[in-house]
Amino acid sequence: MAKSALITGITGQDGSYLTELLLSKGYLVHGIVRRSSSFNTARIDHVYKDPHDPNRRVILHYGDLTDSTGLRRVLEAAAPEEVYNLGAQSHVKVSFENPEYTADADALGTLRLLDCIRDHVQHTGRKVRFYQAGSSEMFGAAKPPQNETTAFYPRSPYAVSKVAAHWYAVNYREAYGLFITNGILFNHESPRRGETFVTRKITRAVGRIKAGLQDKLFLGNLDARRDWGFAGDYVDAMWRMLQHSEPGDFVVATGKAYSVREFAEAAFAAAGLDWQKYVQIDPSYFRPTEVDFLLGDATKAETVLGWSPKTDFSQLVKMMVEADIGLAEGERLVWANNCQTYSMA
Ligand code: NAP
Ligand code: GDD
Repeated sequence: MAKSALITGITGQDGSYLTELLLSKGYLVHGIVRRSSSFNTARIDHVYKDPHDPNRRVILHYGDLTDSTGLRRVLEAAAPEEVYNLGAQSHVKVSFENPEYTADADALGTLRLLDCIRDHVQHTGRKVRFYQAGSSEMFGAAKPPQNETTAFYPRSPYAVSKVAAHWYAVNYREAYGLFITNGILFNHESPRRGETFVTRKITRAVGRIKAGLQDKLFLGNLDARRDWGFAGDYVDAMWRMLQHSEPGDFVVATGKAYSVREFAEAAFAAAGLDWQKYVQIDPSYFRPTEVDFLLGDATKAETVLGWSPKTDFSQLVKMMVEADIGLAEGERLVWANNCQTYSMA
C-alpha cells in the first residue's frame, strides 16, 4: 500500500515542491485548498488530474485553517500517515497589517489541526506523523548563528504566531506522545516564490526591465541579511524529518548569509544589468520592527538526517533570474501581439 500524506498549503511554493517529491516516492497526496473566486492552484496544476481519472495521485479538498470542522472532516476522509502543516499567512510585512488573521491561521490553525489529529489517533488507533512549518523568523533579534538551542525573540505578529505554533506542537508531542516535528526553516526561494517576497520581487523586476516592460524597482531595507536556500532542497529536509525514528526540532539552512543589496546586485548582474541604475528606496516597505540578520546552523539536520543543501546562492539567483527572464519575454510577446491587434482594428 502506498503511503498517504495530507498537506495544508499545497498551493503554496513549498506545497508544490513537496507534492512533487512525495509523488516521486509513490505517495498518495491529499491537499487542502482554500475556496477562491479565482484559480489558486497554478503551482500544482501540472501534477493534478481530473477526479474521474483512475490514476490520479493528488486529491484536493476544500478547507481552511480557520475552520476546525472542515479540517476534522478532511483528516477523517484522507486518513494520512503523514501531515505537513505548511498553510499560513506567510508574509511578515502583511502580518503587521493583519495581525489577528495571521494569529488565527498560523497559531490557532496549527492548534486546530493538532487537536483534530489527537482525536483521530485516539479513536482510530492509527499512527500519524506531523510536520510543523516553523520559521527562522522565530529567532528574530537573537544573535546569529541560530540553531535549535537559540532562544526565540520574534519581531512580528507572524513570528509570534509561529512561536505559538511551535510550542503547541512541542506540548502536543509531550502531552500525548504524538510524532510531531518542528522544522525551523530559514528563507528558501525558487522561481515559484510569491512575487511580493524580496528575492522574487527582485528577479521579476530584472526580467521585466530586461524585456523593456518596467524601468524601476522600489525596495525597502537593503541591509537586512538572510540565509537563502532553494525550496526544492528544503522540502526534502521536511520529508526526512518525518522518516526519522524520533520526532524533534530541526534547523534547516545553508549556513551562508547575504544582504538584500547583495541579492539585488547579483540578480541584476546575472542579466548583465547594473542594479544601482534601477533600484530606489521606498520607506513604505520598511517594517515597524525588522529582523536584521538570520544565519542558520543546520549541523543537527546534517548529522541526524543526512541532509545538506545542494543549491548555493549563485545557482539560486541564476535559476530565478533565468526563469523570470523567460516569463517576462512571454509577457512582452503578448503585449506586442496585443499592440499589433489594436493597431489593425
Ligand atoms: P506560501 O507560498 O505563502 O504558501 C502558503 C500556503 O498556505 C498557500 O497554499 C496558501 O493558500 C495557504 N494558506 C494561507 N492561509 C491559509 C488558511 N487560512 N487556511 C489554509 N491554507 C492557507 O508559503 P511557503 O513559502 O510555501 O511556505 C510554506 C510554510 O512554511 C508557511 O507556513 C510559511 O510560513 C513557512 N515558512 C516559509 C519559509 C520560506 O522561506 N518560504 C521559511 C520558513 C517557514 P493560497 O494559495 O490560497 O494563498
Ligand atoms: N518583501 C519585501 N519587499 N522585503 C523587502 C523589500 C521589499 O520591497 N525590501 C527590503 N526587504 C527586506 C525585508 O525588510 C526583510 O528584511 C528581507 O527583505 C526579506 O523579506 P521577505 O522576502 O519578505 O522575507 P522575510 O524574511 O520577511 O520572511 C520570509 O522568510 C521567513 C523565514 O525567515 C517568509 O517566507 C516567511 O514566511 C518565512 O518564515
